[in-house]
Amino acid sequence: AGAGNEGRGAFIVFEGCDRSGKTTQSKKLVAALREKGVDAEWWRFPDRTTGVGRLIDSYLAGKQDTEDDVIHLLFAANRLEKKQELMSKLEGGTTVVLDRYAQSGAAFTMAKATPGLDLAWCMGVEGSRLPAPDVVYFLKAPVEMAAERGGFGDERYEVLEFQRKVADCYMNLSKMEGWRELDATQTIDALHLEICKDAMKVVEACKAGRPIDLLWA
Ligand code: TMP
Repeated sequence: AGAGNEGRGAFIVFEGCDRSGKTTQSKKLVAALREKGVDAEWWRFPDRTTGVGRLIDSYLAGKQDTEDDVIHLLFAANRLEKKQELMSKLEGGTTVVLDRYAQSGAAFTMAKATPGLDLAWCMGVEGSRLPAPDVVYFLKAPVEMAAERGGFGDERYEVLEFQRKVADCYMNLSKMEGWRELDATQTIDALHLEICKDAMKVVEACKAGRPIDLLWA
């Protein structure tokens, strides 16, 4: 940790359906935190740059079919391969803002309703091996609105009917885990302000020594 950077960094996760504004909002948050002197980095999952990430990328592009359990495990492996780096960033005082995390893994796999791949299975795979976010910002927007945004339909899961199921799964997880639900239909700037205010409190609490929990232990 550098000077003026004592205490750990916060672990902030953005979740929501495809094209709900997670990437825009998470990047804006990192820029705002940096402006306030907070050491912050933007990350995303899947990280398509690793070997595992390239397999995921070709699955999402529809170039390769993969069993539902196998692709779930690849997404989980993609997070696990970044765990040491993630932990050392947080412990070193860097706030990490993530565009999707294990909550996406659970929501998308549950939306498939594949026999045997229920929530307990999803949680068991990586729940005791990864850190829990300090906060999950859940961007809620009607899936029809997201579908009208640029690029929708480019990848495997960007189909309205499937996104509706994902939205239901997100809703259940959010209730269970107490995520911060945000209205993603408001303007980019209004939503950003709301998130910023809350995130600064989370950053301060982490700096003051709030412990890092396990994800789903
Ligand atoms: P992206 O568009 O944010 O890069 O995410 C790619 C797709 O992968 C998106 O449709 C959500 C999906 N996904 C999963 O199915 N499981 C996961 O664990 C993650 C992180 C993403």
